[in-house]
Amino acid sequence: MTAVKETAAERRILTQADAPLFEALVNYAESAAVPFDVPGHKMGASDTPFRQAIGASALKMDVNSMAELDLLSHPKSVIKDAQNLAAKSFGADHAFFLVNGTTTGIHAMILAACRPGETLIVPRNCHKSVIDGMILSGVSPVFMLPEVDEQFGISHGISASTAVEALRRNPTAKAMLLTYPTYFGSMTDLTEICRLAHEAGVLVLVDAAHGAHLHMMDGVTDAVAAGADLVTVSMHKTGGSLTQSSLLLLKGSRISSEKVRKVTGMLQSTSASYLLMSSLDAARRELALHGRTAFRRLRPIAEAAVRSIEAGGTYEVLEESHTVGRFGQSHDWTKLVIRVNGLGMSGFEVYSLLKQRYGIQMELAEGYVVMAVLTPADTEQSIGRLVDALLDIERTETTGYVLHSSWTVAGTVPELAMTPREAFYGEHETVPMEEAAGRIAADTLMIYPPGIPLVLPGERMTDEVIQQYKYYEQAAGAVLSGTKQPGSVTVVKGGTER
Ligand SMILES: Cc1ncc(COP(=O)(O)O)c(C=O)c1O
Repeated sequence: MTAVKETAAERRILTQADAPLFEALVNYAESAAVPFDVPGHKMGASDTPFRQAIGASALKMDVNSMAELDLLSHPKSVIKDAQNLAAKSFGADHAFFLVNGTTTGIHAMILAACRPGETLIVPRNCHKSVIDGMILSGVSPVFMLPEVDEQFGISHGISASTAVEALRRNPTAKAMLLTYPTYFGSMTDLTEICRLAHEAGVLVLVDAAHGAHLHMMDGVTDAVAAGADLVTVSMHKTGGSLTQSSLLLLKGSRISSEKVRKVTGMLQSTSASYLLMSSLDAARRELALHGRTAFRRLRPIAEAAVRSIEAGGTYEVLEESHTVGRFGQSHDWTKLVIRVNGLGMSGFEVYSLLKQRYGIQMELAEGYVVMAVLTPADTEQSIGRLVDALLDIERTETTGYVLHSSWTVAGTVPELAMTPREAFYGEHETVPMEEAAGRIAADTLMIYPPGIPLVLPGERMTDEVIQQYKYYEQAAGAVLSGTKQPGSVTVVKGGTER
């Protein structure tokens, strides 16, 4: 095996029209190499039902690292070129391919930015991977409460004033992590938050799981452009690549690229999937070449759909005028958040009806809303099917009753008695909820909607938490808990004293 001395980029200038890893993989799959290496399906040599379903060429492309195809942990040729093109396309200085989704990117961002014991400021409604990242890293969290939208029954992002206040109260914090955009498409003033955080010497890490397409939209500032230090985007969600493939983007020199490379190497497989990695390369090219035009084509279709959905007066679609006016946050119009409680039904019921009666798979449901995600793969026809189905439901199912739940939101954050990592490694026991006051939670109790936890591992259970738990269990939305026994909670053994 000869060492690769120079990359393609060094031999010739690569442009966004190139997809060096994808092209090298296609060439390898088409070559007549006789595989005596793993994976053991040997490029799909046997005609199995799996090969028939997935296609012979997919298996031909499922190979392990060889000289022509570079190595993710120490990229020197086609992976390095592909990552450089991705960095350039997203306006970053470095891009790292991820094969276990944004989950890995979030763990890597926290591990690269913070040492054990350092303070990380995070939204209370952060994704589960952020809590797990705290356990892996041993950081001490400080929480910020998100803006709650009672009209749509969901939460939005952290307002700039909340972030500023968190920076002021935690002058020794190492980093702040923000979700931008939120699952529902809200975008806070990230540029201002980055400016103030950096002035205070605080790093900014962004969970942009739902924002892989933002850099291709007119009038939208993506997280890298806003000034964040590390950003993870789920290319597989809205960027067009295969499920599980994400990008970790690094901008500037506040965090060393070598540190990020080491951390991603620690967290990822040494047999990273070439199907996933090449799909990142190919999707980046598609977005870079055609993304902007595709979103311009999609926008009037989306706007016409909103007008049709709202025409009968039953539904309301979340729009920027609402999020800017009430919460000072902009909104990504590709997230079609449709309030359906005017039908007298919950979002969950409408979600099931759309699937069962009309064969339409929505992205999610909450108490009051269902959400559709629009991407360049959508057409007037596909969006028209959703509109027609919603209008049919409006005609046939409206009861004249508007469903309202009486949920209220936990406005306080319990005391952090130990770090989530200490709680994770403590000895645990499950106790009846009535006996849990004063104990330290080893579990998360989460209320849906609006997806804000009542308590997280390491936090002290209080009478207020227990009362809220009971209220939600009996009267309102669902409480999600890691404990299998209803009415109980897992706590740290002996963890009562301060
Ligand atoms: C806000 C948010 N962050 C992170 C993730 C994790 O992303 P991935 O599925 O790419 O691991 C998700 C997944 O849905 C998410 O919604």
